Amino acid sequence: MGSLQRHGGNQAATAARLGCRPSQLLDASASLVPFGPPWFVRRSLMWAGLTAPLRAYPDRSYAGLRRGLARLHGLEPDWLLPGNGAAELFTWAARDAAAAGLSVLAQPGFADYPRALACWDGAWRPQPLPMQVDGSAAVGAAQAYPAPPAGEVLWLTNPHNPTGALWTRASLEPLLQRFHLVIADEAFLPLVPGGEAQSLIPLLPMHPNLVVIRSLTKLYGIAGLRLGYALGHPERLAQWASWRDPWPVNGLAAAVGERLLADPAAYRSWCGRVQRWTGREGAWLQRRLAQLPGITPLPSAANFLLIRAEHSLVPLRQALERRHHILLRDCRSFEGLGENWLRIGYQSHRNNRRILRALRQELGR
Ligand SMILES: Cc1ncc(COP(=O)(O)O)c(C=O)c1O
Repeated sequence: MGSLQRHGGNQAATAARLGCRPSQLLDASASLVPFGPPWFVRRSLMWAGLTAPLRAYPDRSYAGLRRGLARLHGLEPDWLLPGNGAAELFTWAARDAAAAGLSVLAQPGFADYPRALACWDGAWRPQPLPMQVDGSAAVGAAQAYPAPPAGEVLWLTNPHNPTGALWTRASLEPLLQRFHLVIADEAFLPLVPGGEAQSLIPLLPMHPNLVVIRSLTKLYGIAGLRLGYALGHPERLAQWASWRDPWPVNGLAAAVGERLLADPAAYRSWCGRVQRWTGREGAWLQRRLAQLPGITPLPSAANFLLIRAEHSLVPLRQALERRHHILLRDCRSFEGLGENWLRIGYQSHRNNRRILRALRQELGR
């Protein structure tokens, strides 16, 4: 596939190119919690593999999983729709969006939204994002989405990928009046310290034009299992469900999801641990990266950050890959960024030190 990847986390292809095993790579090109999945996920996977979740067709209504999600968010189960990762749900969001009119997509932004819109010939226009927003704390979205809007559908990412900017709920709320449909991707929000206070989920009952999409893959380090969910008005979600194939979430993922959500207090405690890691490693990395010559880290509220330089960072990324087996996210596929930018997903403290050491070595050459 060459180096212009539209997603991070391409371990198998990179390992094949480098002639090593995927497990020998330190992958900071995707932004997953490095200490997941929790031990009981492995245990419930083993158990599920021996019992009904492997042998039988999944429950088509995913009643157990919906109940768990509903309990977590204080909604009725028909306000929740589990998906094969958030990515699968974008496909159905895009079908809705294409029918509603012109979509507005922030640029730089997540490449999966145009991918999903292209499935339905959905029209969209880019909304260039100011790159100097201070993502270290919640910031207003008014500057990023100035009135009047030209478009019917707004796709939001909170916190934003790739900048890590965290939009305030107060600044997003007026946008709900301006668009026929708002799709809010909160895939990374549970990883952000103080992030839940900015979630649009509490606004759902008053806004039938709002859908929130979440992911469990980053939070629990289960990207291979695939598990996400949408929150929205029941009629809309029932329509999405009617468009899909019969069992979009496999039985093992559904069983693990039910286990993960069985105890809301355990979920919150996991989020607390993750958020402390994001806050601690983010602040530390920011400080250390700012001391390196030739690169500037951008502030970020999320578990990843951007670095930029006055020159191409492609040779640096390639050297890290070749000489250190460290993968950073190439930003050339993000419209408006290009080769002078890289994105780093936070790792364990030990591995963040390893990334810094490698960067220092390569920048000092
Ligand atoms: C902003 C954003 N939303 C959603 C996703 C996809 O999440 P999932 O793994 O649940 O499909 C990603 C993956 O990188 C992402 O960056």
